[in-house]
Amino acid sequence: MVRILVTGGAGFIGSNFVRYFLSRHPDGFVVNLDKLTYAGNLENLADLEKDPRHEFLQGDICDAGLVKGLAARVEAIINFAAESHVDRSILDASSFLATNIDGTRVLLEASRQHKVHRFIQISTDEVYGSLSAGAFHEASPLAPSSPYAASKAAADLFVRAYHHTYGVPGIITRCTNNYGPYQFPEKLIPLFISNALEHKPLPLYGDGLQLRDWIHVEDHCAAIDRVLHGGRPGETYNVGARNERRNLDLARALLKILGRPDSLIQLVTDRPGHDRRYAIDPTKIERELGWRPRVSWEEGMHQTVQWYLGHRDWLDRVRSGAYRTYYRAMYEERDDTLSNLTSASSVEPNRERV
Ligand code: NAD
Ligand code: TYD
Repeated sequence: MVRILVTGGAGFIGSNFVRYFLSRHPDGFVVNLDKLTYAGNLENLADLEKDPRHEFLQGDICDAGLVKGLAARVEAIINFAAESHVDRSILDASSFLATNIDGTRVLLEASRQHKVHRFIQISTDEVYGSLSAGAFHEASPLAPSSPYAASKAAADLFVRAYHHTYGVPGIITRCTNNYGPYQFPEKLIPLFISNALEHKPLPLYGDGLQLRDWIHVEDHCAAIDRVLHGGRPGETYNVGARNERRNLDLARALLKILGRPDSLIQLVTDRPGHDRRYAIDPTKIERELGWRPRVSWEEGMHQTVQWYLGHRDWLDRVRSGAYRTYYRAMYEERDDTLSNLTSASSVEPNRERV
């Protein structure tokens, strides 16, 4: 499969995937459809501007006419387009329903009409919800906690229904938390790096002892490429690097790399409904498709910090305008009581406002 439609290809994972795909498949051709919301950024694709194998189109995956025309031109669709931030979904879920659920349905409908050979839905481990021990496998029940996760779970069910009802060759991937270059600084790692660079506090939710399984974005891209070329229609593949970290430890590790003091860590009021721990079992993709993560946590973190250090202009530009309004509402005007501080945390909380 060489002619593909990538949606959301100006965002974090999508732009990394377009670059990955074209570098691995010299005869590949990518149509990249992105609405350019606050999270989409053509600067993320600047190095591909002159590549004749990449065609960028600004548009909405909910636009059935547009999507139908594009589906007719490709062999496969990979759907990255989404509203992707849990905190924003807690503030207002409406755009999450439109893009994540209805947008996916529109893409599935076009895939059905044009008999696209593969439809890959980029989903998330968050659809399974939180668990205190062990790991979810692909047949575990869906139990999303946040509006974001609920919208992604609904989209997964549409992929399943279109496969079952119409035979659309849909495959779902459910990946853990990604990190790496071009991530919008509303997410934990780039937010903490950019704050630390400015000697600003790092707002850690609750007690900071939540666990996430982190994977480098390039390993995620490699997994998607494997699924595109060898995955079985109707199947779901969990993607993860078996790399669980507590948020507090992650914050400390970042500060260490940047040479900033732990006292920058500020415990703030928890996210409502905050999932304590995500964990998935990636054995299926490892056994069936021979995929393995290659980037170690230490190497990936160092590379990522270096990337943001080398792209201060990019960071400054994406943090201007609407980002400032969001940051003020989310962090500067929030109730930052320290009631959730637990004894397990030995950080001396910084009581200043973020
Ligand atoms: P992102 O927010 O960085 O990028 C999303 C992109 O989608 C943006 O470029 C945006 O402009 C575009 N978009 C939004 N609405 C659109 C619409 N209606 N039509 C067309 N384009 C639209 O997100 P990301 O972190 O790159 O995540 C990409 C996908 O991977 C999402 O589906 C997300 O749920 C999934 N995912 C993310 C992670 C993670 O850790 N970031 C982990 C697992 C799965
Ligand atoms: P995030 O990057 O938003 O990803 P997700 O919620 O999809 O896992 O957050 C990762 C973890 O970091 C999550 O447990 C919430 C926490 N977090 C903070 O403590 N402070 C912050 O400012 C942000 C954005 C996240």
